[in-house]
Parts: sequence; structure tokens; C-alpha cells
Amino acid sequence: MAMAATAAAKRRETEMRDTGMYELEGKTALVIGGTGGIGRELARGFRDAGADVLVAGRSREKLAETATFLYPDAPDKVGYQVDARSPAELRRLRDEVLADHRRLDILVNCQGTTAIKPALELTEAEYDAIADTNLKSTFFACTVFGAGMIAAGGGSIVNIASLAAHNGWALAAAYSASKWGVVGVTKSLAAEWGSRNVRVNAIAPGFFLTDLNRERMSPQRKEEARRRAAMERMGELHELVGAAIFLASPASGFVTGSVVNVDGGYLASGI
Ligand SMILES: NC(=O)c1ccc[n+]([C@@H]2O[C@H](COP(=O)([O-])OP(=O)(O)OC[C@H]3O[C@@H](n4cnc5c(N)ncnc54)[C@H](OP(=O)(O)O)[C@@H]3O)[C@@H](O)[C@H]2O)c1
Repeated sequence: MAMAATAAAKRRETEMRDTGMYELEGKTALVIGGTGGIGRELARGFRDAGADVLVAGRSREKLAETATFLYPDAPDKVGYQVDARSPAELRRLRDEVLADHRRLDILVNCQGTTAIKPALELTEAEYDAIADTNLKSTFFACTVFGAGMIAAGGGSIVNIASLAAHNGWALAAAYSASKWGVVGVTKSLAAEWGSRNVRVNAIAPGFFLTDLNRERMSPQRKEEARRRAAMERMGELHELVGAAIFLASPASGFVTGSVVNVDGGYLASGI
């Protein structure tokens, strides 16, 4: 046991020296929701840091477009179709990814949906769509891919939470509940898998204009989002990449169960 621990410590140290703290050379990363605004930018950042990046989502068109954007000369076996709400589909995705790429070192759960409307008007179908897309999918993607990481001796999972996992969110109660759940899953799996060298962390983005919110947020809500951030603006997508590379790379080797807020100081502000 002591010898195994020493060998693992040696491996971590060598990995940091050989690859550099923030480099992902030789790693394979899968971004579920990697065709959306945030996910696509995280995939680009991982690629630039040296990882082999794969993306997954439902739309074949978006997958083909993103694969070509990431690897114009070799877009094959980059985009994988999945409806992440279904554990059976996630298991099929794992089998396809491992058949094509042998191993997976980094998983990002960036799939998501929302509805901005009064809680009294939210239907059961709308609630289920939000809960299943944001929370159920994250739980099962973690367990389906985490099992392989445990067997392989390690890995890093980054779940995309939200500011809505920190406080209450008028007109988005179901979304907020799902994101509090994502943080609960993140911390619980970090506690369960820490000794197996699988780290599980989350990023809580502030406001970033994407297809998720561009049409759904009223001009007043957008203005409120800008005003409340200490930096008095929304984020730019590339400003999320550093936190993701940190959590995916050897630089965060002793970080697990953390939520990194990338919010321009939104949560720091009182009045
Ligand atoms: N934008 C923000 O300000 C903000 C703030 C905090 C947190 N977030 C979170 O960040 C994540 C990404 O959001 P975004 O702003 O980038 O939104 P987006 O542009 O709408 O992207 C959403 C992504 O999720 C995928 N997706 C949705 N349902 C799916 C399903 N059932 N199975 C597989 N993939 C699915 C979409 O692809 P398909 O539709 O093709 O499946 C797309 O790739 C979400 O979890 C969101 O809650 C966003």
C-alpha cells in the first residue's frame, strides 16, 4: 500500500515535470455540450493546450461544424452524437469513444438548458427537461466515464454549474435547483473518488451570452446581470478557458470538490 502510494506520487510529479503544469499534451478530453457557446470555446482551449479533444451533443449539424472548426484537416472521430439525458446513450457513447480513442482522461459536462418563466407556470415536462439535461445527465456521465477513469488510475472531471447554484434565482427555480444538484454531485463524487485519483470539480460561470440565454433573457435582465457584476459587464467566452485548463491539468493536482466562480465578481458584490 505504501509502495503504491509512493509510486502514484512519483507519477504525479513526473507528469507535472514532463508535460508542464498547464499542458494537456497526450490527454484525451471529451466535452459533452461541446457544440454550444461555452463548450465549443472550452474544447478550443483544450486543443490549444495540447489535448486531443472530442465533443458530444444531439445535433449532427453542430457536431460536424464543431469538428471541422477544431480539426479542419482531421474532423473524423471528433464529434459524437448523444442525448445525454439517457444513461443508456451515455454508455453507448463511452463504448464508441473508447473504441476510437482507447482512453479518456478529461470529461467536461457542459450540456444544459433552461427556461426563464414564473415557477407557477412551469410545466412538469419543462421541469423534467431542465432536471434531466442539467443534473441527471451530469450524474450519469460522471459515473459512466468515471468508472473507466478509476480503472485507468486517474482522471479529471469538470462540471459546468452556474451562479444559480449559489443563491436563489427568480424565474429560474428549476434551473437553479438543477445546478445546486450539479454542485452536490461534484462534491459527493470528489469525496467518493479522491482516493482513486479521479478529481471532480465545477466551474460556476457568471453571465456569458450564448444560445442558452441570448433570446431568453429580457433586455432588463441582461442589464441587471451586467450591473451586478463587480466588473460591470458580461464575460467573454475565452475568459472561461483558463479555469477549465487549470482544473483539467496537473496544475490542480490537489484540487477536488471545488467550485471555481468565473463571474466578474458577481458573487463578491453586496450593494
Ligand atoms: N451562458 C451562460 O451565461 C451560462 C452561465 C452559467 C452556466 N451556464 C451553463 O453552461 C453550460 C453550457 O451553456 P451554453 O451557454 O454554452 O449554452 P448553449 O450554447 O445552448 O449550449 C448547450 C450545449 O448543450 C448541448 N445539449 C443540450 N441538451 C443536450 C442533451 N440532452 N444531450 C447532449 N447535449 C445536449 C447542446 O447541443 P445540442 O442541442 O445539439 O444537444 C449544446 O452543445 C450549460 O450547462 C449552462 O447551464 C451557462
